[in-house]
Amino acid sequence: MGRKYILILVIAFFTGFGGSYIMQSRAQPASKQANQEPTPATPAQTQTPPSFNKQQYPLEPGSSLWAIVNKRRPFSPKTYQPSGLAVASVQYRAGIGPQENQLRPEAAEALQKLFAAAKKESITLNFQSGYRSHAFQEALYNRYVRELGQAAADIESARPGHSEHQTGLAVDVGGASKSSCNIEACFADTPEGQWLAKHAHKYGFIIRYPEGTTETTGYIYEPWHLRFVGRELASEMQRQKVDTMEAFFELPAAPDYP
Ligand code: DAL
Ligand code: ZN
Repeated sequence: MGRKYILILVIAFFTGFGGSYIMQSRAQPASKQANQEPTPATPAQTQTPPSFNKQQYPLEPGSSLWAIVNKRRPFSPKTYQPSGLAVASVQYRAGIGPQENQLRPEAAEALQKLFAAAKKESITLNFQSGYRSHAFQEALYNRYVRELGQAAADIESARPGHSEHQTGLAVDVGGASKSSCNIEACFADTPEGQWLAKHAHKYGFIIRYPEGTTETTGYIYEPWHLRFVGRELASEMQRQKVDTMEAFFELPAAPDYP
């Protein structure tokens, strides 16, 4: 059974029998004011760029823009919930539930800009999966374990309390050109996957689980999983050619659970 079918079954559970977990009341339209993008420095050619301040935001799992969540860095408490969530005005995959379509407002606004920029280049993106509560992730992860066994599940799906999706700053993005590649490795070869790899950083997103980084992140290559960190950090990571948050902030690798 493919990943997307596992996701669909979990959504069916949550929208049907598990509706009490869904936090519709906290959803609001993405704020136009919630923009954390820095003012660009000018003129770039004639000034020495200021050194990048790695202490601008805390790294602890939680509400920080730069929160680093991985197999060694769970939320505390593991049931952490972000305080505000919004629904981006973008195209969603069919059947997405009324919890998973949310993001933190700053991420939702940046995603709208990303989707609009892609559209101008005839690239049609869609929103596959955003915020996931601890309970949602638990159901999703357990289904992976049942279908694939624990070892295979653990390199594809985070255990509850360890998923970036619980921050509200992570979003899985798919494309219209080859829907069979959505949430699959072949997404990297689609026009949409290639566009994201080239342009996502300009809107404050990084590909959080890049190719060849399983030993650091603990997960297989996920060309569809974007993490909003703000334009400043995303661009700096691109400029320095550092591909994971762990490496950039010199944190221990998180290939497995302690
Ligand atoms: N697929 C990513 C690792 C998650 O479950 O959060
Ligand atoms: Zn994801």
